[in-house]
Amino acid sequence: MSESTTIRWEQDETGVVTLILDDPNQSANTMNQAFKDSIAGVADRAEAEKDSIRGIIYTSAKKTFFAGGDLKDMIRLRPADARIAFDTGTEIKRSLRRIETLGKPVVAALNGAALGGGYEIALASHHRIALDAPGSKIGLPEVTLGLLPAGGGVTRTVRLMGIADALLKVLLQGTQYTPQRALDNGLVHELAATPEEMLAKARAFIDANPESKQPWDVPGYRIPGGTPSNPKFAANLPAFPASLKKQLNGAPYPAPRNILACAVEGSQVDFETALTIEARYFTELVTGQTAKNMIQAFFFDLQAVNAGRSRPQGTEPRTVRKVAVLGAGMMGAGIAYSCARAGIEVVLKDVTPEAAAKGKAYSEKLLDKALSRGRTTEAKRAELLARITPTAEAADLAGCDAVIEAVFEDTALKHKVFQEIQDVIEPDALLCSNTSTLPITGLAEGVSRPVDFIGLHFFSPVDKMPLVEIIKGERTGDEAIARAFDLVRQINKTPIVVNDSRGFFTSRVIGQFINEGVAMVGEGIEPASIEQAAAQAGYPAKVLSLMDELTLTLPRKIRNETRKAFEAEGRAWSEHPADAVIDRMVDEFGRPGRSGGAGFYAYDDSGKRAGIWPGLREHFAKPGYEIPFEDMKERMLFSEALDSVRCLDEGVLTSIADANIGSIMGIGFPAWTGGVIQYVNGYEGGLAGFVARARELAEKYGERFTPPASLVAKAERGETYAD
Ligand code: NAI
Repeated sequence: MSESTTIRWEQDETGVVTLILDDPNQSANTMNQAFKDSIAGVADRAEAEKDSIRGIIYTSAKKTFFAGGDLKDMIRLRPADARIAFDTGTEIKRSLRRIETLGKPVVAALNGAALGGGYEIALASHHRIALDAPGSKIGLPEVTLGLLPAGGGVTRTVRLMGIADALLKVLLQGTQYTPQRALDNGLVHELAATPEEMLAKARAFIDANPESKQPWDVPGYRIPGGTPSNPKFAANLPAFPASLKKQLNGAPYPAPRNILACAVEGSQVDFETALTIEARYFTELVTGQTAKNMIQAFFFDLQAVNAGRSRPQGTEPRTVRKVAVLGAGMMGAGIAYSCARAGIEVVLKDVTPEAAAKGKAYSEKLLDKALSRGRTTEAKRAELLARITPTAEAADLAGCDAVIEAVFEDTALKHKVFQEIQDVIEPDALLCSNTSTLPITGLAEGVSRPVDFIGLHFFSPVDKMPLVEIIKGERTGDEAIARAFDLVRQINKTPIVVNDSRGFFTSRVIGQFINEGVAMVGEGIEPASIEQAAAQAGYPAKVLSLMDELTLTLPRKIRNETRKAFEAEGRAWSEHPADAVIDRMVDEFGRPGRSGGAGFYAYDDSGKRAGIWPGLREHFAKPGYEIPFEDMKERMLFSEALDSVRCLDEGVLTSIADANIGSIMGIGFPAWTGGVIQYVNGYEGGLAGFVARARELAEKYGERFTPPASLVAKAERGETYAD
């Protein structure tokens, strides 16, 4: 019997064994080598001392119950490591299974977050109790890292709740549940208000169920809802939501497909065989490129970004108490809600009291919806609303220690609104503008303290979009950057920091994607194929429909301003093939986009999309003209990746992690790539492969695909991009 190192065995006089998960070398418990040895030792001992044991409780001495697999190890696995990958977890699974089938009641007492491997330990228990602690999350989010839960997670959820619920509630979206919602959805059996109550409930279960078994270990057990071998099953097949359908058809996300196959195949065989099937599908995922990309982005990059990689050092963290939001339109209303949700007092100012009240009403609408879905309470709703004061009076802004301006996109107006308020607010208040296109350096000229002036670019809809792009102007001070960063974190969003430039990073790069789609229209490619290519590349929005949403007049305006600026600076300006298409759409056909009632799509009277405008085929499409579908997808992906490399060259971007996270969370760059720069790193053949393909695209479709010299040099040195 090996000495347990990460699990403490505590047995009381009544024979109840509490297994306290407590890795001495890490802040959280993970499925590392030490755990593998420890849990095997526990299974040995439990079998050997079975007669003296009345029941087993898993709990943990850490803040979280258990974190899951060790991602540092996983990200290194290559296809040649398939055997290692397959064996990873197999032994742990075997040990958990031995404990599960010992013949004694096993209870999971989840004292904190139990995600991934943590919830898999809970699933290998007969009874699951969660401490109802704030911030505690329960679920199997592996799919969001391009993986599947291979610690028995697929096999047991399918047997616990049936294929349809397991897929839709737990596996395919990786939903992280609060303890209450985990209870409501059948992931745990009961909640406890305190750790003591939790352990008492665990003992009570053991007392009452001395012969406890998993449902699937009881003879005659059938999977709830049936399996595909049962003729009635088809009627119960899950109706997949549209977002999942997209992941399952076409877009290059292997994890949902493997999960689906694993659940279905595993449901038709015995438990042990199902575990093996699970390991096989996991191995394919963990040794592939997509999981590496997603782990890099959603674990390592996201952690680095939120931890403050781009926050200037040496400034004390600050919290904002009272924020002024100027402009109660679509963005201002959303910003006010997000700030109030985080507990900040908000003064929401517009030109008239009615306009300001309308902005506040937006929060009411969101809260009513949340209330009807049980996501908030009456009391919390009232508290949040009480924090928002709508006004048309500058004097009401007294005491504000930060300002976020979101009035119309007009430099003179923005200057004016800052002037109106700068003597009322706190003398050192942080001054932010939510401009989407105007250079920050120019806007800063209109305020008395340019050192405190900064861009804070939110995305629409603000309450849902997790990213905020912080833009440093030439005169913005480090203190302002740090304060802006802290404010974004205070409202629970993810901040990336970029240097001022036209369109900053996000707007500029997404512009490339849109232009590429529109250019293809001009070449004569069938518009429906272009939309399909965007979807199959994994973009959340189709390219022409996105253009319609943003309006065709906006890029024209930006293009004209940029051209003027280039000419003034003596820089060479080259037309994009999309320009001529946009001009014709607006000038010749009067189709400026969705808000104008007509664009690449037709819209009905209520503003609903009514199919691609047939005129597109008539005026642009060349019947029979096709280019390889792969080229269509890669033209979109490469256009954004190449421009991001140029953003690095120009110093607009200073962090690879910011680039990756900003592109996925801000502008919908497909998550499977791991972000714009990880896409370059992870491209087949690495940087050299990417350069070769870019040259091929340049040859076929235009100079804009020529890889920048810095990228070519990096590829020649055999490097990859890293912070
Ligand atoms: P909007 O037109 O919905 O709202 C602008 C609001 O500003 C209106 O309510 C207007 O009454 C108010 N306003 C005008 N003059 C004012 C003054 N002197 N004092 C106080 N309020 C005044 O515009 P939206 O979409 O909310 O955009 C606001 C800003 O956010 C713009 O700079 C825009 O470029 C930027 N932005 C917009 C995004 C979007 O998706 N719509 C995304 C990111 C940034």
